[in-house]
Amino acid sequence: MLVPAAVAVLLLGGLGWYWSTSLVPSTYSVMEMGHVEYGGGAAHEHGPGRSVADLTGPADGEPDVAVDLAAREESFDLASGERIQGFTLNGESPGPALEAHQGDLVEVTLTNVDVPDGVTLHWHGVDVPNAEDGVAGVTQDAVLLGQEHVYRFLAEDAGTYWYHSHQVSHAQVRGGLFGTLVVLPPGMDDEQDVVAAVHTYSGRRTLGGSTGITSFDAPMGTPVRVRVVNTDNGPLRTWVSGGPFRVAAVDGRELNGPTDVVDEGVLVTAGGRADLLVTSPARVDVGAGTALVVGPPGEVVEASPEPDRRVDLLTYGTPAPLSFDPERADRSFEYRIGRRPGLLDGKPGFWWTINGNLFPDVPMFHVSEGDVVRMTIVNGSGDVHPMHLHGHHAVVLSRDGVPSTGSPWWVDSLNVADGETYEIAFLADNPGIWMDHCHNLEHARDGLVAHLAYAGVTEPYRVGGTADNAPE
Ligand code: C2O
Ligand code: CU
Repeated sequence: MLVPAAVAVLLLGGLGWYWSTSLVPSTYSVMEMGHVEYGGGAAHEHGPGRSVADLTGPADGEPDVAVDLAAREESFDLASGERIQGFTLNGESPGPALEAHQGDLVEVTLTNVDVPDGVTLHWHGVDVPNAEDGVAGVTQDAVLLGQEHVYRFLAEDAGTYWYHSHQVSHAQVRGGLFGTLVVLPPGMDDEQDVVAAVHTYSGRRTLGGSTGITSFDAPMGTPVRVRVVNTDNGPLRTWVSGGPFRVAAVDGRELNGPTDVVDEGVLVTAGGRADLLVTSPARVDVGAGTALVVGPPGEVVEASPEPDRRVDLLTYGTPAPLSFDPERADRSFEYRIGRRPGLLDGKPGFWWTINGNLFPDVPMFHVSEGDVVRMTIVNGSGDVHPMHLHGHHAVVLSRDGVPSTGSPWWVDSLNVADGETYEIAFLADNPGIWMDHCHNLEHARDGLVAHLAYAGVTEPYRVGGTADNAPE
C-alpha cells in the first residue's frame, strides 16, 4: 500500500515541480529571466550604471519632423472599401506614412485614445537610442488609456523603415497598428519614390491599405524606387513584370553594385524591407492578385507568372569593405532554434526552444560597448523564423557555411528557413537592453524571444506590473 502511494506522491510532486518551474511570473525584469551568456568575452558586473530610461534621443532642439499619432481600437475601411475590425493611427491603417530627411530630428507624440491593452511605437529598423525603442516592459511602460508618450530621435540612416506597436504586438500589428517611415538621403532626385507596405488584414492581402491593383503615376522610362515593406508574419514573395529591375536596398541599407534582375523574384523577410528600382512602366506583385502598377495614368501592365527563382542576396552585387572586422570578434554567440513538447507557463504544447530551453529560460546575450559580435543562428525547428535584432544592423557572413560573396548584406530582419544556419556579425555600438526575437509575432508570443544587454546598463522597467506590459 505504502509503496505505490509513495510513488504516486513522488510522481505528482515531480510533475508539480516541473509545472511550477515553467510558470512565468506575473511581473519580472527581462534581466532576471533565463541565463546569461558571455560569448567567450569578459563577464561583467551590473554595478551602478546607466539606466535604459536615460538612453534617450536629443532632449533639446526643435524637431524637423513633428507628428501626433492617436491610437484607437475600432473598425475602419480599407482604402479599397472592405471593413476591418482592428487598430488605427489617426483614424487610418496603415497609419500616416512618415517621411524625414537624413539628419532630421523626429518627434512623435503617441496618444492612446482607446486601446484597452495600452500601446507603444517601435521604430523597426531604425537604430534609435534605447529609450526610444518602444518596447513595453523593456524600454518604456505601455501607454495606457488616455496617456501619451513622446519619442525623439535623429534619423541618422537613410532608408525604408516602419513603425508598429510593441505592446501585445502579435494582436496589435496584425490588426493594423503600424505605419511606414522613410528617411531620404540628401539629393536623391533622379528617382521617384513610392512606399509599398504589404499587410494582410483578416486574410486580405493589401498594398498601401488596398486590395487589388494600386497605381503610381510615373512617366515612361523614369526610374522608380518601390519600397516594399513586409508587415506580415511570414516571408513575402514579390516579383516584377514589365522589364528588368534592381534590388537597390535591403532593410534600410543600400546594396553595393546591384545588377539587373530578370526572371527572378525577391523574398522580403517578415518585418524586412526591399527597395526595388523599377523602370516605368512596371508592375510589382505581392501575391493574391495584389500589385502596384507604376506607369503613366491608365497604363496597364500584365502580370507575368511568378518566377521560380529568387534573387540570392548572398551573391548579389559586389563586395565592399565593412565598417568593422568580423574576423576579430570579441564575442560569439549561438541562437539555436528548436521545438519540443513541454510546458510554457504551465500550458502543455509543442513549443519553440532557444539553445535547447523553453521561455522564460532563454539566453541574455551580454556585450560591452565597442565589441565586435558574431552570432550563429541555427534553425532546426521545422518552420521559418524571421529573426529581428533591435537597435543594430548585422551583416550576413555566411549561410550553411557558404560565405557571402556579393554586396555587404546588412539586415535587421533575417529570414532563417528551416534547416538553415546563418552567421552574422554586428558592432555593439548602441548601448541598452535590446530584444532579439522572431518577427513572426505569434512565435514571439509563444516564447521565441531573447535579449541583448550591454555591460553597465540597468533595467528599470518590468514586464507585467502596473502598466501590464506585454511586449509580445
Ligand atoms: Cu518589429 Cu521587436 O519588432
Ligand atoms: Cu518564428
